Amino acid sequence: MKRGYSESSSTSLGPPQSRFKHNPEGDAQFLEDESTKIFARKVADHYSARTNQTLEERENSPIIHLKKLNNWIKSVLIQLYARRGDAVLDLACGKGGDLIKWDKAKIGYYVGVDIAEGSIEDCRTRYNGDADHHQRRKRFTFPARLICGDCYEARLDEVLADDAPFDICSCQFAMHYSWSTEARARRALANVSALLRPGGTFIGTMPDANVIVRKLREAGGLVFGNSVYWIRFDEEFLEKKFKSSSPFGIKYKFHLEDAVDCPEWIVPFHVFKSLAEEYDLELVFVKNSHEFVHEYMKKPEYVELMRRLGALGDGNQDQSTLSPDEWEVAYLYLAFVLRKRGQPDRTQANAKRDKGQMHISKEDITYVNSS
Ligand SMILES: C[S@@+](CC[C@H](N)C(=O)[O-])C[C@H]1O[C@@H](n2cnc3c(N)ncnc32)[C@H](O)[C@@H]1O
Repeated sequence: MKRGYSESSSTSLGPPQSRFKHNPEGDAQFLEDESTKIFARKVADHYSARTNQTLEERENSPIIHLKKLNNWIKSVLIQLYARRGDAVLDLACGKGGDLIKWDKAKIGYYVGVDIAEGSIEDCRTRYNGDADHHQRRKRFTFPARLICGDCYEARLDEVLADDAPFDICSCQFAMHYSWSTEARARRALANVSALLRPGGTFIGTMPDANVIVRKLREAGGLVFGNSVYWIRFDEEFLEKKFKSSSPFGIKYKFHLEDAVDCPEWIVPFHVFKSLAEEYDLELVFVKNSHEFVHEYMKKPEYVELMRRLGALGDGNQDQSTLSPDEWEVAYLYLAFVLRKRGQPDRTQANAKRDKGQMHISKEDITYVNSS
């Protein structure tokens, strides 16, 4: 497969300093900061505005099987790495769509952070079990805390200093929103690293830059897609070449029917990997979603989970399954697992759960202002 980017190995693991082309100082820097904030707000407003669907609306979604497949991928990641009693940090938690998955893993504490006020509010009502969601009404067995703020700008190490350390950090379908600038990407990784215990796990899913760049190069113009998605790059990428010295801020517009319609950023995985190493996060594995499905569908327990979730039909009466167009969208994503360097300190107490509640009121949500 032709790689979208030249792989450059990370040689220096020194202090977190930029190895990439620096942005100009002064007014241009100020304007860049402003536009970065505007884009972060655009993303937040997009997700905030997405309302909860009824069960019927959800089942009629043109990407219902893709949603189920993505839930299966996240469930497998959680089942692989979560242990009973774990303290979990869910970065960009959205509406709390993974709460039930964490509950099944019998975790001990949950902190969810998201920039979108509307999503955090939905997460709160879902956690309390008093929302009219398609999910069954449910009380969760772990205490939780919710934070509304920008995970890629806020000093979460300070905000959550009393809650840390966490055993697992999860960032599902959201890490790419940090790649608008190097500073944000670094803040994201610094937050994860500071809050995870040594030996702790960072799991996530995000777009696969190699697939997206290859599809762009195969396309006649700057737009490509199918019946359920399209991706559009700006004219500045007409040559379809990307400098390895500027691996941040490569923006495109992503539209996925019934799900996403906002700016996103390319995350060259080799840059993500080497930047993560600077923050003591070592790669355990990375797999494109197709490879992930093929690998874990060899294991009977995950075949059974897939049957229950119904992404590929239930193997009985329900013959409905992922359409070829949905399967192509799945190929746009990858799953990754990183591990925080160091040996677990058996003497260190787990995350302090006393900040968490078994019922979260509106006033319990912590709002973190970005600078
Ligand atoms: C595709 S949704 C995924 C939600 C959830 N992780 C899931 O898998 O269901 C992306 C989420 O990222 C959140 N997000 C985007 N930028 C963010 C930021 N800078 N800080 C915190 N959350 C962010 C959005 O508000 C949205 O909830």
